[in-house]
Amino acid sequence: MCGIVGYLGKNEKKEILLDGLQELEYRGYDSAGIAVIENKQLKNFKAVGRLKNLRDKTKEYESKGFGVSIGHTRWATHGKPTELNAHPHMGAYSFVVHNGIIENYQELKKELQADGVKFLSQTDTETIVHLFEKNHNLNNNPWESFKKTISKLEGAYATLLITEADEETIYFAKNGSPMLIGFNDSDVYFASSDTPIIGKATEVYYLEDGEYGYAQNGKIHLFDKNGEKTFSKQALATDKAMAQKDGYRFFMEKEIYEQSTVMNDTMMGRLLDDRIEFEELDKDLFDNIVNIKICACGTSYHSALAASYLFERIAKTPCQVEIASEFRYKEPLLRDDTLFVTISQSGETADTLEALKMAKKAGLKSLSICNVDNSSIVRESDAAVLTRAGIEKGVASTKAFATQTMVLWMLAIYVAQAKETIDNELLSQELDAMRHTPKALLVADELHPKMTRLSKRYLHGHGFFFIGRDLFFPLALEGALKLKEISYLHAEGYPSGEMKHGPIALADAELFTVALMPKSLHYEKIKSNVEELCARDATVLAISPEPFDLADDFVKTTYDSHPMLEFFEMMVVTQLLALEISVRLGNDVDMPRNLAKSVTVE
Ligand code: G6P
Repeated sequence: MCGIVGYLGKNEKKEILLDGLQELEYRGYDSAGIAVIENKQLKNFKAVGRLKNLRDKTKEYESKGFGVSIGHTRWATHGKPTELNAHPHMGAYSFVVHNGIIENYQELKKELQADGVKFLSQTDTETIVHLFEKNHNLNNNPWESFKKTISKLEGAYATLLITEADEETIYFAKNGSPMLIGFNDSDVYFASSDTPIIGKATEVYYLEDGEYGYAQNGKIHLFDKNGEKTFSKQALATDKAMAQKDGYRFFMEKEIYEQSTVMNDTMMGRLLDDRIEFEELDKDLFDNIVNIKICACGTSYHSALAASYLFERIAKTPCQVEIASEFRYKEPLLRDDTLFVTISQSGETADTLEALKMAKKAGLKSLSICNVDNSSIVRESDAAVLTRAGIEKGVASTKAFATQTMVLWMLAIYVAQAKETIDNELLSQELDAMRHTPKALLVADELHPKMTRLSKRYLHGHGFFFIGRDLFFPLALEGALKLKEISYLHAEGYPSGEMKHGPIALADAELFTVALMPKSLHYEKIKSNVEELCARDATVLAISPEPFDLADDFVKTTYDSHPMLEFFEMMVVTQLLALEISVRLGNDVDMPRNLAKSVTVE
C-alpha cells in the first residue's frame, strides 16, 4: 500500500519526486525517501513521518541536468517505520524501491547473509538490491542481473532500481502491485497510480503483471515471459481527485472494491500450505494462556465479537469481548492467564488505548491487531499483528473490518494449532476457505447495480433491523452500523433468535429487516426467525444463497459451504446497501456528519 515515483529526464528531479510522493500520501505514509543519480553521483535522503520532514531535509539539495531518480512513501508492513526501514534501500552502488511483499525474502536473505551480505533494515525489499548486486558482481551486466533478480522473487511487487553500474537507466518490474509509466517527449515517469504524474506526463502505459524492463534514452524496453514486446500508450487522465479514488466516486466505494486485493496482502506469508504462521509473534505468546479478552470500539468491536465465536469454536479457548469505554470503568477482574487483545484500525482510539494500559498494569500479556504500525496501541502492546489494509480514508470502515476479521480468523487457527485443538482435516478445510476469501470479496458485476436499484425502496420507514445468528450477529451489527454512519437512518443489529423477545413488537410494513441467512450455519433456525417477521408484515430484504420466497427483496449470494466465505460475501452486500442508500439521500459518504476517523478523546 505504499507509493512509488520514478523519473528519468533533465528536469529538476527532487521536486518531481517530492510532488509525486505528496500525491501518493493518501495511500499511506510513515516514512519516505528518494534516491537520485546525476553526473554519475548518487544522492539519497530519507525521513520518518510526513513528507514534510523529507522536504525539510532536502531543502538545500538541487538536482538539475539529466539523471535518474526514484522515490517512495511507506506504510509499514515488514519492520517498524524507521529511517533504516524507509525506502529506497541501498546496496553498495544501487538503490531500490518496492511496493508489495516478497514472500520468499527470508530464504533469499539467508542465502545472501551466508555470502557475507550485511542487511541494514528489517524489510523484505532490501533483498532485491543485494540480490541484484550479487548477480552483477558475477556477470558485470546490469540488465542480465536485474532479470535474474526478478526471476527469483515470489509474491507481489512493483519495483524500480537504479544503479551506478548503469547510471542512465531505470529498471522496473511489476507483479501483483500497481505500476504505470508516464511519457512526455523524452521524459519518462513511473508511479504506483496516476496522481503523481497528472499534469506532468501526457500519455501513460499501465503495466501488466509479469512485465518488466528498463527505461533508457527516453525509451522503454518492455518484456514479459515471452521476451521483448510492443505496447501502446493512452492519454492520461487530467482530474487528480478522481484519480486518487481510482475512478470511484468515493473513497469508501474504492475501499469496498479493494477488499479482495488487500486480503491477499493480509494473508501473505501467514497462510502457508499446511498451517498459519505469524512471524511477528513469539512462539511462547500463548503459553499458559487459558483465556482471551478482546477490547475494542465501533467496527473493531464487531470484528472482535466475530472472533469470539472462532476462538471458542476452533481454538477451544474461552473468549470475552468488551467495549473499551465500558471496560475501563467496570473495575474488571483480570487474571494473568488471560491474553489481552486490542483491535483498532487507527491504533489511536483513546478508550482502547486506556483499556490496554489498565490490562498491562494488571500484568496481562497484550497483543494488538492494528492497521497502523508505530501507532500508540501498537507501541504499547507486547506484540502486534498488522492488518495490512493500507490507509483507509472513508470514515465508515470497510476494508479495515474485513482484514481485522481475517487476522482474527487466522489467529484462531494459529492458537488451535498451538493447543492442538484442530485436526488435519478441519485445518485443511479452513486454510482452503481462506484461500477462497479474496474471491468471495469480489464485487460481482450484477451486484452493485442491483444494490443501487434496491436502495430506492429503503429511504424512509421507521427503522432497520439487521438480523443474523452466530457469526452473522456481529455482521448484522456491523451492517447496521455502516447504514447508520452514512445514511443517518436508524438501524439496529440484533440476534435473529432474540427478535421474538421484544423487538418483534415493532414489526409492520415500515420496518425494514435485512436478514443474513447463510446456508452453512443454522439456516433452518434463522429461516424460522425471518418467517416470524414476515408473518407480521415486516418488509424483508433477505441475503442468502438459498431462495427465500417470503422475502420482499432478495439478494442471492454464491458461497454456501463455509460460514466465513458467506460472511465476507454478505459483508460486501451490506456495505454496498449502505453506500447506495447514502448516495440517494445525498449525504457525504466519505465524511459523514458528526463522525471522525480516529477518536482520540474519551
Ligand atoms: C471511530 C470511527 C469508527 C471506528 C472506531 C474505532 O468511532 O468512526 O469507524 O470503528 O472509531 O476505531 P479504531 O481505529 O480503534 O478501529
